[in-house]
Amino acid sequence: MKFLYRKQCGRCERKSPVKTLVGNSVLELVVGDITNEETDAIVNAANSQLAGGGGVDGAIHRAAGPSVMEQTSQKYPEGCPTGEAVITDAGQLKAKYIIHTVGPIWRGGREGEEDYLRAAYRNSLQLAVEYGCKSVSFPAISTGVYGYPLDLASEVALSEIRQFLLGLNDAMLVRCVLFNEGTWGAYCRVLEQWRCDETNA
Ligand code: APR
Repeated sequence: MKFLYRKQCGRCERKSPVKTLVGNSVLELVVGDITNEETDAIVNAANSQLAGGGGVDGAIHRAAGPSVMEQTSQKYPEGCPTGEAVITDAGQLKAKYIIHTVGPIWRGGREGEEDYLRAAYRNSLQLAVEYGCKSVSFPAISTGVYGYPLDLASEVALSEIRQFLLGLNDAMLVRCVLFNEGTWGAYCRVLEQWRCDETNA
């Protein structure tokens, strides 16, 4: 794992992206609004009814327009079980696709939440590859309304993404688009811990 850069602007203190090489691929951590992303696909943290909601789900549907909900209703009338993922086009967004995945609701950690969260990342990435995507943006799935503790969710997200990228032959860009600097910081701490572990190994 090779870190490319990490900077903090001296004037506004806004954090610059963190970039890490994973195999042939690049993993980025940025602060931002995922609806502005121009990656081939963006991932939505949906609910199992694909019924829309608040948080990133609401923001994506508002920005993409009603055609996306029409597609989910038509193509996936049964919804999407926790840990799985489905795909639509991206309506008015700059991305080509929206991958709708369903993270687990946090119930204390003994109800398979980690496995479900790993599956949500893995199945989203698999679907992206099947649709020829070379770049994908993820929000911090399950860390809002679904209450998954951020320090645990960030470790699960990054380790599952890393494992997936290490198994890919082709290069891919995976960007974690984190809505605020607290979330971004939690993700950065995971990468820093890995770097320490590597140095001390
Ligand atoms: N861009 C990036 N991240 C965002 C955005 C955005 N525009 N809006 C919110 N987020 C962040 C939140 O700050 C949080 O870190 O996305 C993360 C996930 O939070 P939620 O959107 O609440 O998703 P989740 O916890 O997975 O809960 C899913 O919420 O809105 C409903 O329909 C959705 O029922 C489902 C549930």
